[in-house]
Amino acid sequence: MEKTCLVLLLCFILMPITQGVEFGPKAVEKWFKKLPHAKQKVTKFHFYFHDIVSGKNPSAVPIIQSTSPIFFGYVAMIDDPLTVGLEPDSTIVGRAQGIYGGADQNEVALLMTLNFVFTTGKYNGSTLSVLGRNPARHKYREMPIVGGSGIFRLAKGIATAKTSWLNSTGAVVEYNVIVLHYDI
Ligand SMILES: *[C@@H]1O[C@H](CO)[C@@H](O)[C@H](O)[C@H]1NC(C)=O
Ligand SMILES: *[C@@H]1O[C@H](CO)[C@@H](O)[C@H](O)[C@H]1NC(C)=O
Repeated sequence: MEKTCLVLLLCFILMPITQGVEFGPKAVEKWFKKLPHAKQKVTKFHFYFHDIVSGKNPSAVPIIQSTSPIFFGYVAMIDDPLTVGLEPDSTIVGRAQGIYGGADQNEVALLMTLNFVFTTGKYNGSTLSVLGRNPARHKYREMPIVGGSGIFRLAKGIATAKTSWLNSTGAVVEYNVIVLHYDI
């Protein structure tokens, strides 16, 4: 009996931690009420973005093909795993879901419109939205984080991309993300 109580108590204590942020219109309203007194905080992420364009299970599929050598007009839909390490079987922490397309007539530069969808720990179910320009052949590409959901409501930040490898299989890109958001 006592043991059950202790276990139940622990469950109640641990639940908010493991479930992360509350969702639903009431939870969002409560969150906005706390906003005037909320502190801002900075959170950093480091992960690898696996963009696989060929083989049996591509994570990026073309919507519009292009004959342009710099991919102008090419558009793809992606659902790319985000992993802790460089290897394809590395632990997945989230996914990059969205659309990128060749948007430059003079060099390879993609318009990136996607969400980082986190799937682990306290970030599970929270998202960050990227809207930026990705000149893919440059060493570092900087893209704005324009907002977020869940833990990242009203977030702003910067994602920096650096290609780890690129060939006809696809690419793995190292991302460093830094976001300013509210500690609520
Ligand atoms: C993340 O949340 C989903 C939906 O609420 C749940 O099914 C899943 O088990 C959770 N994953 C982790 C790793 O907590
Ligand atoms: C592309 O590079 C990756 C990582 O080095 C390698 O695993 C893969 O086999 C390569 N694909 C081709 C077609 O060369």
